[in-house]
Amino acid sequence: MDYLNLTTKILVYSYDEASDSIKKLVDEAKKAIQTSYSPYSDFKVGAAVLLSNGEIVKGSNQENAAYPSGLCAERITLFTANSGYPEMPVEAIAIAAYHDGGFTDAPCTPCGACRQVMLEIENRYKNRIRVIMYGNDKIYEVASVKDLLPLSFGQEALGEKP
Ligand code: THU
Repeated sequence: MDYLNLTTKILVYSYDEASDSIKKLVDEAKKAIQTSYSPYSDFKVGAAVLLSNGEIVKGSNQENAAYPSGLCAERITLFTANSGYPEMPVEAIAIAAYHDGGFTDAPCTPCGACRQVMLEIENRYKNRIRVIMYGNDKIYEVASVKDLLPLSFGQEALGEKP
């Protein structure tokens, strides 16, 4: 019997330290918050996806009186990107959240279901997706969705060719 030790490398930096392209993507995610429909949680989330052709696709969370019928900003944005540009790999996604009158101090980290969807997209296009999680205090960045979802379940378990 033994332990399996898994390590995750998360890059931590401030907005001011970010490159211009990351700043732009974060700014777009923040802008997307304006379209959030979140009367139930009042937790507004915006996401911006960078495609490999340079295009940026934005989206926000959309809620529903039947709570589970709503959807997170990340999945809305990624599905919009994939349906609009089915041939285009995703290079990066930035996520930001607004609550209690301001952007959150802590980085907005995606829920488990969104991580699973991101993983499928990473596998589908055979292209690692940088995930940039914005907070006022600091930004977290991982180089691949796999860093956010260790021991994941993917197509390979089904014997499908990813
Ligand atoms: N939400 C997102 O859109 N993304 C996240 O990463 C976390 C949660 C949404 C879902 C729901 O509309 C609200 O935030 C509160 O959970």
